[in-house]
Amino acid sequence: MPSRWPDLFQGVQSAFAPDGPQAGEIAFLTWIMIGGGAIIFLLVMALAAYAILAPQENRRWLADRRMVMIGGIALPIVVLSALLLYALGASARMVHSDPDALDIEVVGERWWWRVRYPDAENQPVLVTANEIHIPAGRPVRLRLISADVIHSFWVPRLAGKLDMIPGRANVFQIEADAPGVYRGQCAEYCGGPHALMAFDVVAETPEAFQAWLAGQRKPAAEPIVPFLARGQELFLSSGCGACHAIRGTPANGEIGPDLTHVGSRRSIAAGAFPNNQGTLAGWISDSQHLKPGNLMPSFNVFEGEDLRAIAAYLESLK
Ligand code: CUA
Repeated sequence: MPSRWPDLFQGVQSAFAPDGPQAGEIAFLTWIMIGGGAIIFLLVMALAAYAILAPQENRRWLADRRMVMIGGIALPIVVLSALLLYALGASARMVHSDPDALDIEVVGERWWWRVRYPDAENQPVLVTANEIHIPAGRPVRLRLISADVIHSFWVPRLAGKLDMIPGRANVFQIEADAPGVYRGQCAEYCGGPHALMAFDVVAETPEAFQAWLAGQRKPAAEPIVPFLARGQELFLSSGCGACHAIRGTPANGEIGPDLTHVGSRRSIAAGAFPNNQGTLAGWISDSQHLKPGNLMPSFNVFEGEDLRAIAAYLESLK
């Protein structure tokens, strides 16, 4: 994705390469503080050098009482008050909520993200996981809650971080200036695999977003070849549906991520691995090795053709 930021500031999670108004406020405030701090530091160092090196009669004014009043009291009050006023304004702009914002609910789970799209048109709530699709150029209001412990939602290129706290909902707004993929990460230690609790925000054109939404609302595709049908059969008969839902099949578990369109996602295990048949098979048979401590047991009962069939079936759920 081309970016308007210099290479030095690039990075999938670089707060120095903001691509939305909220992150832009933070980056600008950061630069004000870095620049202002550098100017004051250089000024103080120059005065200190002058005080040490200049001839005594030339530096007498430095010890003047007025210098202490101006440089020691007046200047800090003026600078810090100006910074405070600017920061308060920036905070107000960041928590501002647009009435026409799109509402999405994100639930912090150990150690993944449940994403819900409520709908005004009385359609059922769409539930997905670990990937948040948003329309670019439109404000999105996120309702952040937790299912268990404290997590923290952070997409550095789009906005600041906000904690997800059990028993309360924190609301804030994000917006992506342009289509692109913005990586996020849980920013509050939440136990074992906390470091492997990532996600992607996928910003799309409004048309592409609506098409994605329509596709995700559909039930899962029926297997079209015997190999995939065997995968589905194994999935349903092995108890996977106790934890996972695949809409359109009897699997309706709500403990783990909804898998109705798992094949359409960029990654598995909350941003930990790319999504393909190989990683899916590895995850099913040995998830405890790939993401130790996660809440899905390793299903090493599946081997060979059976394992490949289940992985292929899941991968086919686009
Ligand atoms: Cu969730 Cu750290």
